[in-house]
Amino acid sequence: MRLPQLRTVRRGFAAPVVALLLGAVQSGEVAAQSSDPLPGPTPAIVTATTYRDVARAEFVGALGCASTLCHGGGPAPVSNQTVVVDGDQKRNAYTIWKGRDAHAKSWATLATERSARMAQAMGLGKAQDTTRCTECHAPMASIAPVRLSANVRAEEGISCENCHGPSKSWISAHTRLDLSHAQRVGLGMRDLDNLYNRANNCVACHQVLAPDLQKAGHPPLVFELDAQSVAQPKHWIDKGDFQGPQAWLVGQATALREMSWALNKRAESADYEREQWRGLLWTMQKVVGILGEFPKYENLTDVEFSPGNFIRVQEVSDNIAKEASRRAWDSGMTRKLMDGLCALEGDFRSSGESTPALQQRALRVTLGLSRAFTAFWAKDKERWAKSAEAMNQLFMANDARSDFNKTNFADKLAAFRNSLAYAGADEPPRKTAAR
Ligand code: HEC
Ligand code: HEC
Ligand code: HEC
Repeated sequence: MRLPQLRTVRRGFAAPVVALLLGAVQSGEVAAQSSDPLPGPTPAIVTATTYRDVARAEFVGALGCASTLCHGGGPAPVSNQTVVVDGDQKRNAYTIWKGRDAHAKSWATLATERSARMAQAMGLGKAQDTTRCTECHAPMASIAPVRLSANVRAEEGISCENCHGPSKSWISAHTRLDLSHAQRVGLGMRDLDNLYNRANNCVACHQVLAPDLQKAGHPPLVFELDAQSVAQPKHWIDKGDFQGPQAWLVGQATALREMSWALNKRAESADYEREQWRGLLWTMQKVVGILGEFPKYENLTDVEFSPGNFIRVQEVSDNIAKEASRRAWDSGMTRKLMDGLCALEGDFRSSGESTPALQQRALRVTLGLSRAFTAFWAKDKERWAKSAEAMNQLFMANDARSDFNKTNFADKLAAFRNSLAYAGADEPPRKTAAR
């Protein structure tokens, strides 16, 4: 099996130029409520149908935000990663989205030859005409016309309101400059400042891919909130220092929850889905052990597929995501995570698992390690230069073009761990012995 072509993996960890700072976190419950309730204990699960599950809400469309006096003014972004957010009013949010953001181009993507081939292979007709594609690429297409203002078009792709929530009820009031973010959320705007809400929003389209889509050639989906937030051209200003790794944890827990939910609903699953699920579950079990302070995956009969396990994993993952989004995150926590993930070297070296299973574990471990490391590296690139090289080597050991080799991966993990000693004294290098 091929490793998912995660763009983050292809780019290596160092590609994003912007600092990896995510928004401050407020506690708060997710506002969304699933239209597709799950059998079992988790009350409100967010799924691909959730973000538009707003039975009564109405959409205004991106044009409602596009005036130069609103979000369509301000400086145009210089490049993808040097986005200028124009003061408190974020007057160029629309400009950035329209000019730079893949989400504004997702409708056009459905008109490409590649999409046509995919849709044809699935016997779907035109990609732009089927909800099998538009549910993620053009969500406005599947909203009942009565709930859409006259200006809303499927052509908007993934539009402002698909992330920020349908705005008919709050669009006029939210322009008041004296309102705080919390007050705007009170009006009905979705609170994306909260990492749990943000992860729920993104994961709805970025993790679970139906096997027939994957078979028809759709790029595999691997959700990782931190790197994917960095990769999205920013039309906002993030705050905080070590929130990258925090976003990573919230995102991984959310991804596992989504996968468990989707697998539990279906009678059948594909090999890659089972490997993805097991690989992420394994990694999350290790992470919870390393950090020692989040809910544990207890009472699993085994890591096998069973409805009981899916529901259990879904529930625990949701709790981890919520707790991780609430707690403060600092350098100590990040260092603990980094050291703990490095110490998994021995687990790879001596493992009797199949190559596809180990590949999935390696991918998730590498993503976690890279987000923890990036949080340090972004603050002082010279100091961490040796480790940056080692991190790129680790990414290469995941490369889908070469066959995955567990010994090679374990070697690169050890090399990365040893490179940390070069970063110097005030963050004392801890030489964790291989287990
Ligand atoms: C309604 C579904 C949907 C939601 C919600 C969504 N995305 Fe996307 N996203 C997509 C689709 C579809 C594409 C592919 C667009 C294309 O190239 O046609 C995409 C592309 C991207 C890309 C560019 C491809 C890449 O991996 O580099 C990034 C980055 C991204 N999304 C991040 C996010 C983040 C962060 C969030 C949450 C804040 C989010 N997305 C929410 C559907 C969604
Ligand atoms: C579950 C949500 C979802 C569904 C359903 C979906 N896509 Fe996607 N699609 C995405 C996301 C997310 C991306 C971006 C992946 C990335 O690069 O990280 C994407 C990327 C793509 C790309 C690659 C774009 C690029 O620039 O590399 C194509 C082409 C595409 N989708 C076509 C389709 C077609 C055609 C369908 C229907 C047959 C479809 N998609 C259904 C979520 C979805
Ligand atoms: C793919 C998801 C996505 C899309 C599409 C999107 N945004 Fe955002 N937006 C975010 C995220 C995530 C944040 C950061 C959350 C925060 O700080 O509240 C944000 C922040 C903002 C902010 C700053 C809020 C604040 O309080 O600082 C504004 C303004 C904004 N977006 C406007 C828009 C407009 C206008 C559009 C459409 C042209 C748009 N967004 C499209 C995800 C999205």
